[in-house]
Amino acid sequence: MRGRLLQFVVGVLLVAQAAVVSLHAQPQAELIADRVVRFWDIDVRTTDLEPSVALVHPFPGIAPAPADFPLEPIFFETDEGEEGFVIEIEPGTSLYGTGEVAGPLLRNGRVIDCWNYDAYGYGDSTPHLYQSHPWVLAVRPDGSAFGVLAETTWRIRVDLASAIEMISDGPDFSVIVIDRDSPQEVVIALAELTGTIEMPPKWAIGYHQCRYSYFPDSRVMEVAKGFRERGIPADVIWMDIDYMDGYRVFTFDPSGFRSPRYLIGQLAEIGFRNVWMLDPGIKVDDEYSIYTSGLQKNVWVKKAASNDDYVGQVWPGDCVFPDFTNRTVRQWWGGLVRGFVRLGIDGVWNDMNEPAVFGVESKTMPLDNVHRADEDLGGQGPHAKYHNIYGMQMVRATREGFMTAYPNRRPFVLSRANFIGGQRYAATWSGDNTADWYHLESSVPMVINLGLSGNPFSGPDIGGFAGNGDGEMFARWMGVGAMMPFARGHTGKGNIDKEPWSFGPEVEATCRRALERRYRLLPYFYTLFHEAHVSGMPIIRPLFFLDPADPALRSEDDAFLLGGDLLVVPALTPNRDRRPALPADFATAWRPFGFGDLDDPDLPELYLRAGSIVPSGPVLQYTGEKFLDPLTLLVALDEDGTAIGTLYEDFGDGWEFRDGEYRLTTFSAVKEGASVVVRAINREGRWTAPTRAVRVRLIMPDGRELTGTGHANEDIVIGLE
Ligand code: GLC
Repeated sequence: MRGRLLQFVVGVLLVAQAAVVSLHAQPQAELIADRVVRFWDIDVRTTDLEPSVALVHPFPGIAPAPADFPLEPIFFETDEGEEGFVIEIEPGTSLYGTGEVAGPLLRNGRVIDCWNYDAYGYGDSTPHLYQSHPWVLAVRPDGSAFGVLAETTWRIRVDLASAIEMISDGPDFSVIVIDRDSPQEVVIALAELTGTIEMPPKWAIGYHQCRYSYFPDSRVMEVAKGFRERGIPADVIWMDIDYMDGYRVFTFDPSGFRSPRYLIGQLAEIGFRNVWMLDPGIKVDDEYSIYTSGLQKNVWVKKAASNDDYVGQVWPGDCVFPDFTNRTVRQWWGGLVRGFVRLGIDGVWNDMNEPAVFGVESKTMPLDNVHRADEDLGGQGPHAKYHNIYGMQMVRATREGFMTAYPNRRPFVLSRANFIGGQRYAATWSGDNTADWYHLESSVPMVINLGLSGNPFSGPDIGGFAGNGDGEMFARWMGVGAMMPFARGHTGKGNIDKEPWSFGPEVEATCRRALERRYRLLPYFYTLFHEAHVSGMPIIRPLFFLDPADPALRSEDDAFLLGGDLLVVPALTPNRDRRPALPADFATAWRPFGFGDLDDPDLPELYLRAGSIVPSGPVLQYTGEKFLDPLTLLVALDEDGTAIGTLYEDFGDGWEFRDGEYRLTTFSAVKEGASVVVRAINREGRWTAPTRAVRVRLIMPDGRELTGTGHANEDIVIGLE
């Protein structure tokens, strides 16, 4: 297309900025799934397009694009030769997605630079964070929706000033447009294209405790025991970089972590899992076997001019960087991960994988460095092309390595950098946030938008990474963080202690209540993770999912939905001066409830949807402590006197669930005369739940609560009088 449409392009750009797009171009188009069309520019051959790295497979065309497909991008080229496209939006369209971006939920008016970046100290105006999602979810005024995915790994600027416009640094790329009747359906369609999360091991949805760094091993044990002594639930403790010998990955500090195996055993005895950091930068050191092995296998990213190994500075000083875009290199890394995790390591944390490089203005490696990428990723090419997927390919390699060590266990990998589609390999967190109220507040829209961009498994550093913050903020943050998909407290080097008990007894009590809530709700959380795994539905969801046509909900991010049935309303400002816009039927459709913790003002308010049944359990100190017994069903009847809900269960790890070793139970509650009858109406899967008691908490519209008890296989009848 080079040059040919330049005049037209200038017109489009001007028009796009004025929010009136009237020009038409005719890109090439093919249908790749029901109401999903791939477009590319008129004079570009498909063989010249960028490959589909985000997608689970290439999705070839199945038919010509339907003539009545309502959306069509206009491709253009800027006078600097950049490729771009614009899609007009009708007034009143709300824009979301774009992955991990700071600032409010609603993305209208924002310009986002998709470029993975070490963004310590970020704020609303930071143009790029650690991950790239060239993806926009658009909700039309009538509540119907569409999604736009740019199929390029190159840096791309997403300009949502008045239209959906993206301009890339790279060559021609295709654009996938999904048209659906609701935003939920768009998110599910995105998951059909880019994949869903794999089921995590159950312990990974417990609470995680981290800091940079717990050192030495005795301190790790002390913190872990601190949870047990105080009766504060937690599943995981994390080892940040100081466990290593001089920041050499796959090594252990000989003085501080003499016997990782022993430490892991000690932790396991008190029900603690362990996660260890592995960064990509490999110290240049001839005495270091990982360096010499990589050198021998020629795995490092190369410099352009000389074809020498590229050397950049990270924690250990001079480092080389494995070229994870190459299958042989991923296998080499996977082999190292395999040996490492066989020590008994439960999970791996991949950080600094934008990749971050110190002491250079770009904060990363030169754009002309050379990757010897697999053909299906695009073949040999410059760092500019592979930068945004470096982290994604790293976590892919880590995951594969874990799987070779423990084929029967579910990997847990956390990654700072990633790319759309990377939810297939790793969970994520919001990077180096700050211990202030702004970051507490903005963690809500960030996690929601990540979920709307394909990755439902994320959460912030609870308490904030940079700086200290105070006890009140910490308590509030724990209250919100405990309701997020990934719940981990973390803080940076040099900061005060930030364990749940570090701010005195009152804050400790709030943290305990917050985490007890999470553990009581584990059966529900696990059911939601299963739903996310199956369909891609986010675990926490925006309020506008309740009524996508209601403009009042479109920008609301002071509250969120946990699954479809719980509404979480936190107080996110120090003086509690904001109330979220709630759905029009809020007073009748949602019932406040708690777990005997309602008098704690630092915990979020919780509401149960009328018509729903939410499974919960007793407080556990860690997920594997005991089987779910009793199962407590939280029930709220709708106007018709009915309620329904599901519970997903399996072994909590392993893959047997794929062969039917799971149990998906549907419960119903029906008002029959002066009683409510609660029963299991459907069971799917072969897994047998242990015999257990079932309790019902029926939350009435007037706030009263009625209870009933029974067994799994019998009706539970609650008198309404
Ligand atoms: C990076 C990470 C942070 C970690 C630190 C040291 O800043 O974002 O979470 O603690 O590196 O490894």
